[in-house]
Amino acid sequence: MTYSISILPGDGIGVEVIDATRPLLDDAAHAGGFELETTRYDWGSERYLESESMMPDDAIETLETYDAILLGAVGHPDIPDHVTLRGMMLPIRKAFDQQVCKRPSVLFDGVESPLRGYDGGDIDFVLYRENTEGEYADAGGHEHRGYPHEVAVQTAVYTRQGTETIVRAAFEAARSREGRLTNVTKSNAQAHGMVFWDEIVEEVSSDYPDVTVERLLVDAASMDLVRRPDEFDVLVASNLFGDILTDIGAIVSGSMGMAPSANINVEGHSPSMFEPVHGSAPDIAGRGIANPLATVLSVSMLFDHLGESEVARDIWRAVESQLADADAPRTPDLGGSATTEAVVEDIRTRL
Ligand code: NAD
Ligand code: IPM
Ligand code: MN
Repeated sequence: MTYSISILPGDGIGVEVIDATRPLLDDAAHAGGFELETTRYDWGSERYLESESMMPDDAIETLETYDAILLGAVGHPDIPDHVTLRGMMLPIRKAFDQQVCKRPSVLFDGVESPLRGYDGGDIDFVLYRENTEGEYADAGGHEHRGYPHEVAVQTAVYTRQGTETIVRAAFEAARSREGRLTNVTKSNAQAHGMVFWDEIVEEVSSDYPDVTVERLLVDAASMDLVRRPDEFDVLVASNLFGDILTDIGAIVSGSMGMAPSANINVEGHSPSMFEPVHGSAPDIAGRGIANPLATVLSVSMLFDHLGESEVARDIWRAVESQLADADAPRTPDLGGSATTEAVVEDIRTRL
């Protein structure tokens, strides 16, 4: 069996965590008895600074031919974020209908939460984020710039197909876990899109009588992810709400540097993309101290998606074993002084 994987390091610490994690892919292939064909594309902000485009014109056609995509991060302090992200990462999620974004938040043994009183395993939930529409739809306009009647309109878009796809994926996940789903919306203020979303959750729930559904408004959900993160199993939320809640999920489970994600094309007609939840972190870029574990865990999710579940589990367990080991190297976000590379090297010895 041969899998083809395109690797997009991107910008800032994206490049550092991808470069460090790269040898792990070959280790995984060796252990799993399959072949990997990888191609690295150095697209991103440096390219933009030279040529005013983040990716070549045929980037989507190029990526389409791969079985999966591994992405670092995108974003550069000298270029507006809406230019870089709308030039590279967001168009990939949309072009390949990566409608389901799966983001686990796990407090691993040996990791300290900034919240008091939680031990390893106490926090373990997964958020299903709608990933191609909602508040991220490219619908709106900005005109009369600089005049008193200047106007900007940003419209959120919720389709039945998109909403039902993410909601069903979340119900399926809840069924395979503890059977509890938290639906997060803002239906008290947003009576069109969010009430529609709630109606779809209600409809789909009749197919999952074994799943208990809790409803939370997003403001209260933000509070509860801090107040009682241990009580969540699966959450489902719109694109923007899911984005915000997964940064909370990452930090209550120890660090932004350990949160992985999968952007999944459910029909399988286009590649899915795997990436850490974090960004390019300009504040620490270039120092070789970024935590690579979010990327390592994203690689685990990538192999799981390709059907190599044993290899995926081994990588996940290597991370668990490293974090549980008080003598293992840790990056500064976890209170250590190890480099990005040293952490991956140690993971490789545990595989
Ligand atoms: P960020 O996630 O890059 O950083 C937030 C904080 O977390 C920073 O203090 C950073 O040092 C820390 N952090 C993040 N990843 C870490 C890691 N692996 N190890 C240790 N510490 C880590 O978010 P930001 O600062 O809001 O955004 C920076 C840039 O990245 C912006 O241009 C933004 O648009 C972009 N961004 C891109 C993605 C993506 O490509 N998927 C995601 C988020 C943000
Ligand atoms: C993420 C990021 C992106 C998002 C940004 C960079 C557009 O924050 O993947 O969480 O909001 O989806
Ligand atoms: Mn985010």
